[in-house]
Amino acid sequence: MTFPLERPARLAVFASGRGSNLRALAAAFPPGDPFASVVLVLGNRRDAGALSLAEAYGVPARAVPFGGDRDRFEREADALLRTFGVDLVCLAGFMRVLSPAFTARYAGRILNIHPSLLPLFPGLHAQRQALSAGVRESGCTVHFVDAGVDTGEAVVQRRVPVLPGDTEEGLAERILQEEHRAYPEAVRRVLMGQVHSGVGAHA
Ligand code: GAR
Repeated sequence: MTFPLERPARLAVFASGRGSNLRALAAAFPPGDPFASVVLVLGNRRDAGALSLAEAYGVPARAVPFGGDRDRFEREADALLRTFGVDLVCLAGFMRVLSPAFTARYAGRILNIHPSLLPLFPGLHAQRQALSAGVRESGCTVHFVDAGVDTGEAVVQRRVPVLPGDTEEGLAERILQEEHRAYPEAVRRVLMGQVHSGVGAHA
């Protein structure tokens, strides 16, 4: 598949938690939008706020528990992505690591958002890592997903100052405001064919 498409793009959002990035994406790409729409939300926890938020936006939501069985999760997720004809997958607060086989299958068609200026501070507690490192600015990155953890090519980064006396919660909240701008911008750039991931991206 090559972007841009000659029809509205179909997006899926994978989320594990409250879903504020899902809200930003669903607002930017609503049902019936001529450019792109979120057509599926997949939560790996039944209590993910993202699932009820999806319903509020009129977007089909499915709970697919991850449990200890990643293979089963990925088989079910793959089947749903095919059923809903999804073009681009957006991980938004999805706190599980997908297999190399899955990320290879969706290479160039799967994005993640992370609350740091990657390659700095990958993995968990990125804001805490930034404060511990004493950096004067941090931010967020939307990147293509590859087989590593937070290692794929960056599509959009937005910067946020780290203020004297910042707490982890305060910094996280300030970064989150930028995440809500960065994710729709990154999706637009990918769908318009302005950025591609590396080898195999559009096989
Ligand atoms: C966001 O800050 C996102 O960047 C982060 O989880 C939060 C989810 O918030 N993701 C990661 O840390 C992934 N490594 P949300 O559920 O309100 O979108």
